[in-house]
Amino acid sequence: MKILITGAQGQLAWDLINAQQATSFECIGLSRKELDITHEDNIQSVLSEVKPNTVINVAAYTQVDRAEEEKDLAFQINGLGPQLLAKQCNTRNIPLIHVSTNYVFDGKQTQPYREEDPTHPINVYGASKLEGEIHVKNECAQHIILRVSGLFGKHGNNFVKTMLRLFQEREELNVVDDQFICPTPTCDIATSIWQIIERLSTATQKPQWGTYHYNSSPPVSWYQFTETLLEIARTHRSFRIQALHAISTDQFKTAAKRPLNSVLNCEKIFKVFGIEQRSWEPGLRQLIEDLLR
Ligand SMILES: NC(=O)c1ccc[n+]([C@@H]2O[C@H](COP(=O)([O-])OP(=O)(O)OC[C@H]3O[C@@H](n4cnc5c(N)ncnc54)[C@H](OP(=O)(O)O)[C@@H]3O)[C@@H](O)[C@H]2O)c1
Repeated sequence: MKILITGAQGQLAWDLINAQQATSFECIGLSRKELDITHEDNIQSVLSEVKPNTVINVAAYTQVDRAEEEKDLAFQINGLGPQLLAKQCNTRNIPLIHVSTNYVFDGKQTQPYREEDPTHPINVYGASKLEGEIHVKNECAQHIILRVSGLFGKHGNNFVKTMLRLFQEREELNVVDDQFICPTPTCDIATSIWQIIERLSTATQKPQWGTYHYNSSPPVSWYQFTETLLEIARTHRSFRIQALHAISTDQFKTAAKRPLNSVLNCEKIFKVFGIEQRSWEPGLRQLIEDLLR
C-alpha cells in the first residue's frame, strides 16, 4: 500500500516517515519543492505519477503570530491547499487524512472539546485551518480530519526547544499559567495516524470517515509543563535559569490570541479506532534526552 505524505520536511512529517509502522507501507514523503499543495497542476501530476492509496496532508502554514500579518498566505496554504488536494483525491477515489488543530475552537469552553462542538477561531491561523477543514469535508468523501494540539518533536521549532534555549540564556522566565493544553509528542500523533491507516486498510465494515481528536494527557498549563520540563532537563545538566514565574495571558502579549482551553476530548478516536490517549511525559523525557545528550 502506497502512502503519500505532503510537507515532508515538517516536524510531524519527520516522525510519520520515520515511525516503525511506516515500514509496513510504501511511504513517499514530498517536500514543498516536490509537491506544492497550492498548485493544482502540481497535485494532479504527482497523484497521476505516484498513484497513492492514501494521502496524508501535514503541509501547513504554522506561524501562528506571523499569520496575523500574512493572512493571505495562511489562507492560501491552510485553506486553498487542502481544498485542491481534497478535490483531486476525491476525483481519484483516494482517502485523505488531513491534520488540523484545536485552534479552530475559541477555548472558552470549560470541558475538553469534542469533535461536534461549535468551532469559533480567535486568530487568523485557526480561521485558515478551519477553512481547510470545511473544504476537506465538502470536497472529499473519504476523509479523516485529525485535530491535534501542542506538538513537540525532535525536528522543527517547538515550545520544548525554545524553553531549553531560554533556560540557558535567562535567570528568570515568565510562563503563562492560565492557558491549558495537552502537550503531544509528534511521535504519538504519528503512531495514531498509522493506527488509523492500518484500521482503514483492514476494516471489514464501512470506514467511519469524519473528524477525530487526539492529544496526549494529562492537561497542564504552559507553566506547569515548563516546571516538569525544567525538572527533567536538570537531571541531564545545570542551567542558568533560577526562577520560573507564573503569569496570566493578559501579562503576555502576543500578536495572535491563544485559546485558554486547548484540551481535546479523545473518546471518539478510542471508540472507533482503539487509539488510547498516551501520557506526554515519556515523549518529553525522550526528547530532552535526545536534545541534551
Ligand atoms: N505545531 C503545533 O503545535 C501544531 C498544533 C496543532 C496542529 N498542528 C498541525 O499539525 C500539522 C503539522 O504541523 P508541524 O508542526 O509538523 O508543522 P511544520 O513543522 O511547520 O511543517 C509544515 C510543513 O509544511 C510545508 N509547507 C508549507 N507550505 C506548503 C505548501 N504550499 N505545499 C507543501 N508543503 C508546504 C512546510 O514547508 P517549508 O518548511 O518549506 O515552509 C513544512 O515543511 C499542521 O497541519 C499543523 O497545522 C500543529
